[in-house]
Amino acid sequence: MNTTKGIILAGGYGSRLYPLTYGVSKQLIPVYDKPMIYYPLSILLIAGIKDILIITKIEDNSSFRKLLGDGKKYGINIEYAIQETPGGIAEALIIGANFIDKNNVCLILGDNIFYSEKMEIYLSKAQNNFIDGFSTIFGVKVDNPSEFGVVELNSDKEIISIIEKPIKPKSEIIVSGLYFYPNNVLEIVSDLKPSNRGELEITDINSFYLNKQKLKMIDFSNDVTWVDTGTYKSLIDASNYFQQFEENSGRKVACIEELVYKMGYINKEQLTEIANDMKSSEYGRYLLEILKYD
Ligand code: DAU
Repeated sequence: MNTTKGIILAGGYGSRLYPLTYGVSKQLIPVYDKPMIYYPLSILLIAGIKDILIITKIEDNSSFRKLLGDGKKYGINIEYAIQETPGGIAEALIIGANFIDKNNVCLILGDNIFYSEKMEIYLSKAQNNFIDGFSTIFGVKVDNPSEFGVVELNSDKEIISIIEKPIKPKSEIIVSGLYFYPNNVLEIVSDLKPSNRGELEITDINSFYLNKQKLKMIDFSNDVTWVDTGTYKSLIDASNYFQQFEENSGRKVACIEELVYKMGYINKEQLTEIANDMKSSEYGRYLLEILKYD
């Protein structure tokens, strides 16, 4: 049976955050109380995906492995691959081709942070779109669309075009860094040519599906918080947002240990072991609290 495999693309230079990212990969820097990659990883888990490939720069690979290992302690499978140089987001699909094999794939950028109470509903809609061979992208509204892939919509809210970093954007809706593709994406990406900026563009893949009328967009602009982590300010804003949220609700966002426990991938003993290992941090004590009331 076809399943959906997950890929987190966590390479790139992170140059907009220098000097923060000279010594550590962007996707490992903290967003409030956890490394950034926990957020996209939690999205894959919420989508029901248990087989995950993390693509990193060669020098960062060991740090990601040290953090997440082979996934066994979370009851999932995590594999790793290297992107030699940042050749474009779509290159993740070439690097991950053997891993994807005959399955569908959900690709998420390691620096894209999403939060919504309705996330599970949205992600299962995207999974359902596979039944009719549709790809799914997720639109969000921003103030600075020309820095992203921008969608142009007609009066029926149907997509007419997707343009990467247009000088004159046709809307404020941009394509966020989360993509669901059926297995035929492997054929499409193998024919893709680099753009003028020398990258294999994810926007070209999305445009291909659009032209074939096989692309759906889920609108994230109303009830999903999406964070662009590209600036110092947006990083602090994100940390403040999640700190506030967690203090007000008493719940943690993107707590992968809690998620895999609630999903039944690990049992009480396994969570206890993870939590005890972190018991000197507030994060570890949060996990111990969960166990107390369960
Ligand atoms: O964040 C959403 C946007 O991501 C989309 O709206 C755009 O269509 C898409 O092209 C992309 O735009 P960015 O300019 O933000 O992409 P950036 O080059 O900053 O890369 C995004 C992340 O992916 C970043 O964490 C680095 C990683 N990356 C990027 C490239 C090009 C890689 O790991 N390898 C790569 O080759």
